[in-house]
Amino acid sequence: MTFRPISIFLSPNTEKDDVQLASKLLFKPWLWKKGKEILKFEEKFKKYLGARYAFSFNSGRSSLIAILEAMDIKKGDEVLLQGFTCNAAVNPILAKEAKPIFVDVDETINMNPEDLKTKITKNSKIVMIQHTFGWPAKIEEIKKITQESGLYLIEDCAHSLGAKYLPSQISKKLRRAKKLCGTFSDAAFFSFGRDKIISCVYGGMAVTNNKKIGENLKEFQKKMNYPSNFWIIQQLLHPVLMNYLILPFYNFLKLGRIFLALFLNLRLLSKSVVRIENRGELPSYFPQKLPNALTLLALNQFKKIERFNQHRQDIAKLYKENLEKRFILPFAREDKNREPIFMRYPLLVDDSDKILTKFKRRGIYLDDAWRKSPIVPPATDLKKIGYIQGSCCEAEKIAKHILNLPTHINISPNQAQKIIKLLLNAQ
Ligand SMILES: Cc1ncc(COP(=O)(O)O)c(C=O)c1O
Repeated sequence: MTFRPISIFLSPNTEKDDVQLASKLLFKPWLWKKGKEILKFEEKFKKYLGARYAFSFNSGRSSLIAILEAMDIKKGDEVLLQGFTCNAAVNPILAKEAKPIFVDVDETINMNPEDLKTKITKNSKIVMIQHTFGWPAKIEEIKKITQESGLYLIEDCAHSLGAKYLPSQISKKLRRAKKLCGTFSDAAFFSFGRDKIISCVYGGMAVTNNKKIGENLKEFQKKMNYPSNFWIIQQLLHPVLMNYLILPFYNFLKLGRIFLALFLNLRLLSKSVVRIENRGELPSYFPQKLPNALTLLALNQFKKIERFNQHRQDIAKLYKENLEKRFILPFAREDKNREPIFMRYPLLVDDSDKILTKFKRRGIYLDDAWRKSPIVPPATDLKKIGYIQGSCCEAEKIAKHILNLPTHINISPNQAQKIIKLLLNAQ
């Protein structure tokens, strides 16, 4: 009998070897901050993407701050990004005293190029596309717009490590060679947060092929500090406590949930987004460098990326085949130009609260907080973050109806079938 829950957000990528590695690292403080693994990871990442420069930081948030600084963003400059995003993508812009301008989304929950055109002003400086949940955005249309308007393009690849896109202008010889997301723009960043494609609980990477931006990123990284020992311990404890104490008892007399609340209260575990971020502020540990211990966790996960993403694609196929007749699936269409990796599999439902409650009663936890608000988590203060209600109608509609399904490595095909069966009986 297992009390481990099916869940979308509770330490989703962690496997046995990751837990063992984190446990060992807790007893090796000399490996925590500086170390040779950092450069090794940056080199591997560069090679994987085919990028000239890659610099690691302690989150996607820190990586975005580094890129904004490297692009010499000034107070009042406008950064255009899509509605239906996380406040973690907005707060680095606010931290630089720049102005986020929200652009509506298309049918695949990515930036709508037509709406982008209407929102560019003389103060616009940067456009940031998102590749939501691993589905590549309309890269070429948007790149054409940024080039014509003289704007920088950033790819937010927090959800899309490994996703590919086939550019139409590619030479005949390379016609079948899709390119990885993160290689189309002036600079891109990735997240290795706890529920991303690969995870070291907190981590990120900024990449570019542009020499000036690359050198600026290098300077910025040099100036940053390593996080505190306490912060590093918090992150190392995450896979350990989750997998040895919380998840095994999650559905046993609520014991696991009590442990989780207790460890969060005692600050033995970190939260992915803290309360002040809902008000448009950033905690003091951003931006900082990626410490060596978390780099070791990231390297261990990076080895598994092909298997992780193949698994996500297989599970997504199951959802598509079984659910497309009953639900609107934003990612259901066939697209020869894209190879998405489905960090989540979104569907649109009438009443997500009702369905989530039904799932919860069966010990299945699917509320990943990517719903209810065009800027998530739902507790985000839209006014403080600069979002004008009604400015992204499609994003607001999607937020009302979206329900994300898990695709991560700890979801077996049988568990996916269980979710499918419940969903088909739910509406
Ligand atoms: C779309 C998006 N952009 C950026 C981020 C920031 O990444 P991180 O959590 O590593 O700071 C996140 C995740 O929180 C995200 O979902």
